[in-house]
Amino acid sequence: MTLPGRTGRLPRLWRPTWAEVDLGALRRNLRRLNKTARVPLLFVVKADAYGHGAARAARAALEVDAVAALGVSSVEEGAALREAGIKAPILILGSLYPFESTLAAIHYGLTPTVASLEGARRIQLAAAGLRGADRRLLPLSCHLKIDTGMGRVGVRWPAGREVVQSLLASPGVRLEGLYTHLARAEDSPSFTKRQLAVFARAVRESESLGARFKWRHAANSAGALLWPESRWDLVRPGLAAYGLWEGFEPVLSLKTRVVFVKNVPRGTPLGYGGLFRTRRASRIATLPIGYADGLPRVLSTGRRRAEVLVRGRRCALAGAISMDMAMADVTGVPGVSVGDEAVLIGRSGSEEQGAGALAALAGTIPYEIVTGLTSRVPRLYRE
Ligand SMILES: Cc1ncc(COP(=O)(O)O)c(C=O)c1O
Repeated sequence: MTLPGRTGRLPRLWRPTWAEVDLGALRRNLRRLNKTARVPLLFVVKADAYGHGAARAARAALEVDAVAALGVSSVEEGAALREAGIKAPILILGSLYPFESTLAAIHYGLTPTVASLEGARRIQLAAAGLRGADRRLLPLSCHLKIDTGMGRVGVRWPAGREVVQSLLASPGVRLEGLYTHLARAEDSPSFTKRQLAVFARAVRESESLGARFKWRHAANSAGALLWPESRWDLVRPGLAAYGLWEGFEPVLSLKTRVVFVKNVPRGTPLGYGGLFRTRRASRIATLPIGYADGLPRVLSTGRRRAEVLVRGRRCALAGAISMDMAMADVTGVPGVSVGDEAVLIGRSGSEEQGAGALAALAGTIPYEIVTGLTSRVPRLYRE
């Protein structure tokens, strides 16, 4: 027996729910960021490239000349990129713990972030411990992270002077970068100015101690776009590169298909708890997508009810989103039938719904919507 398995270049989906990732849009966004910021980019691909698929997104991004490096959140994420054959510099953002993971980072050719005196000591020990052929890895590069106001990890300034001195005194280590992370670049000019002033001081004083940084960096997307003085030698966009910033091209669409349609009379309860009752005779479409795919359940309740785009029209979700399915009221849309495409994020005809709109309704941020898409949603890539 032959299974009817594949159509064209895309794997056939036996459950028609998928995310489409437009790699051309990703590259255009990165070029645009570079044109605005006028410095190279460290493209942030942590959390599986914000749900877009880290290896594919990274490979596509590295075709853009301005992309000088990638940023991940852990040794595991960096190692997965190395195993996918990616050779570009990869910075592990944040800090390393347990400290033994410094050795794993070095093994995979990843650049660790040092964020404390103990972190500095560990990379020095790692450098001193390299033997034989491994000594070709010397000097080990690292970036020092300064906490200027985010308050998560990083040395404070001027306490960080001690870490800079310690790193400069170790021949096996190269202090290649100095950076910080902005907490409020999109909403507080005064806070951001204070952060940038502390960082500028840290740069100045480190350089007067003898540091020669290749990369001094502070800007996330908001910094890169709104704060020219945060750009330094490199900007670190995530959000805008994925098109989740006003004026950039959305990269990810979330789509499914109608798998069931029925007409129901007025007053029909729908879904768990019968929380929703039709107020008129209605035509209801069932969609094979639920909270286990990353569609937040809150989007089916009260004023947080989301819409889905079917045949270029907006249709409200109806009844509680369940683990694997959701329903939409398609009464007003002529001819809806099984197999019709239903767009949660993306475009249908002249209608469009962004991850940002879903996030606002759900009371969260777009990062949480895209990183929340689970592994059972296949990512299909378009060039
Ligand atoms: C250290 C660091 N730099 C840059 C970014 C990218 O930020 P955004 O997605 O807002 O551009 C992040 C993401 O959270 C980050 O943690």
